[in-house]
Amino acid sequence: MDAIELLKHDHRKVEQLFRDYHAAADGTQRRAVVETLIRELSRHAALEELMLYPLAKKVLPGGAHEIHRYLAEHKAAKETLLALDKLPADDDRTGELVERLRREIEEHVREEEGGLMPQLRDAVSQRELDELGQLLVRARQTAPTRPHPHAPAEPPALSLAGPVAAAYDRLRDRLQGRPMT
Ligand SMILES: [Fe+2]
Ligand SMILES: [Fe+2]
Repeated sequence: MDAIELLKHDHRKVEQLFRDYHAAADGTQRRAVVETLIRELSRHAALEELMLYPLAKKVLPGGAHEIHRYLAEHKAAKETLLALDKLPADDDRTGELVERLRREIEEHVREEEGGLMPQLRDAVSQRELDELGQLLVRARQTAPTRPHPHAPAEPPALSLAGPVAAAYDRLRDRLQGRPMT
């Protein structure tokens, strides 16, 4: 899978988790779904912030402005994830927070899949999207599994594990036409 396919696959997985939440038989099952949502969305957000958004900023006209908005949406969703993370297992507020999260994510995913992702597909070659996909798979192993809404959401403060960072730098250099050494 290339980078865009991988990230879209995450989106579908998260949509399924929202359905699972409503289908869950009891509070224990619901909490397990909430824990999975927290983990999946925290990881997904970090991967986009590390690898997709910086690339979009570089290669898309008006990318910096767009990405600013996407990052603000991530921050809002992470606040909701953090609130969920802090709730005790069978707290009454869970359902309401899950619903807020679902609305936030639905809107954000619509924008990514309708705007950012097709634009990137046009701007970047298939080979580069494939390479980025491989880097995403490696980065996922060290991505955070909890929400950190107050931590920096952009590189270099948010950083990749060394070998992945080096490979990603080379990919970006190539996209900017920098000489390879
Ligand atoms: Fe996103
Ligand atoms: Fe996404």
